Amino acid sequence: MRVLLTGGAGYIGSHTALCLLQAGHDVIVLDNLDNSSPESLRRVQELTGKQAPLIVGDCTDEKTVTRVFEQYPIDAVIHFAGLKAVGESVAKPLKYYQNNLDATMVLCKVMPKYNCNVLVFSSSATVYGTNQEMPLREDFPTGCTNPYGWTKWISERILTDVAAADPTRSFILLRYFNPIGAHESGRIGEDPAGIPNNLMPFICQVASGKLDHLRVFGDDYPTRDGTGERDYIHVMDLAEGHLAALEYAIKRSGVEIFNLGTGTPYSVLDIVHTFEQANDLKIPYEITPRRPGDIAVCYADATRAKELLHWEAKRDLNAMCRDAWNWQKQNPRGYNG
Ligand code: NAD
Ligand code: WQD
Repeated sequence: MRVLLTGGAGYIGSHTALCLLQAGHDVIVLDNLDNSSPESLRRVQELTGKQAPLIVGDCTDEKTVTRVFEQYPIDAVIHFAGLKAVGESVAKPLKYYQNNLDATMVLCKVMPKYNCNVLVFSSSATVYGTNQEMPLREDFPTGCTNPYGWTKWISERILTDVAAADPTRSFILLRYFNPIGAHESGRIGEDPAGIPNNLMPFICQVASGKLDHLRVFGDDYPTRDGTGERDYIHVMDLAEGHLAALEYAIKRSGVEIFNLGTGTPYSVLDIVHTFEQANDLKIPYEITPRRPGDIAVCYADATRAKELLHWEAKRDLNAMCRDAWNWQKQNPRGYNG
């Protein structure tokens, strides 16, 4: 298959590009490099011995997307391109709605002109909003708490309506939980700009001495140790989930939703202690008040993906912590080092 990865130079996209190339597929990347570097794809080539051509361009621009489809016959699209910083989305909602929704709509418009019907979409566990019942199942009610989340929710809606109107379409909505870690080589990984918002990149920068300590946001949640619990998933497991989703999508039509998580929640302190043990170092931390907008617990019921996609996460928390640090240690300044 020849697969177009929008946003394929980014964190999850580059790991998925590697998996697809290793499975024998051809990969084309369309990315505006807003939050990524072409170096990620250069390293994917180094690891696989295969090239994924990069088209630097914007997915919200219909002419650009059309040009890609004119240039290459494309069998399926994995749509990673999107802005993802929750805090920034609250400050700049229009930027998020415009970028994330226009990109989804432009793809929906251009793809059928080239008989391309298969699309796998990067959605998020954030669409479950403040649901209290755990584990989260795909048929649970949805709703969001910030503009970023709503862009995922509305994209899911758009894709569902477009597929309902055209029975040839096959769309898969993947709700990712908390991806962390890196390829085991340490050559590709997560390279956030500025001070990281997310837990694992923050811990990695504390470990490297770039930041002096971790702030643990709240120890008064109704959880085992009082700190927030999440469903962390190794980015390589997540990448393999996309391969399984593509194989499923090409054989059918309609819309399907899958959680991609492990089904096991870990607390902030579980992550800190596992990271310390796996890598034989200390992570200084202090307990601070809760971060506004955070929920206590969030984890997946991962049975649907197991039953229908024949996929489940294989890598444990130890591997996630080891691989995250291996990447950080080898690339203290990310791809620009
Ligand atoms: P990322 O920022 O590393 O990758 C996204 C890529 O999309 C970047 O390379 C960026 O340059 C590109 N991009 C953004 N807007 C674009 C546009 N208009 N045209 C072309 N390229 C554009 O993020 P990621 O962590 O790899 O996430 C990939 C997708 O998964 C995103 O849609 C994100 O919202 C979603 N997601 C991520 C997480 C997470 O925790 N990382 C969780 C759930 C969902
Ligand atoms: C994890 C846990 C924090 C940083 C976010 C988005 C979500 C999705 C994934 C895209 C929480 C705690 C964190 C720190 C801390 N992205 N924490 N100190 O908030 O679960 O999800 O990324 O779709 O939409 O909201 O991930 O890594 O920020 O936090 O104590 O410095 O770590 O309170 O319990 P989150 P996270």
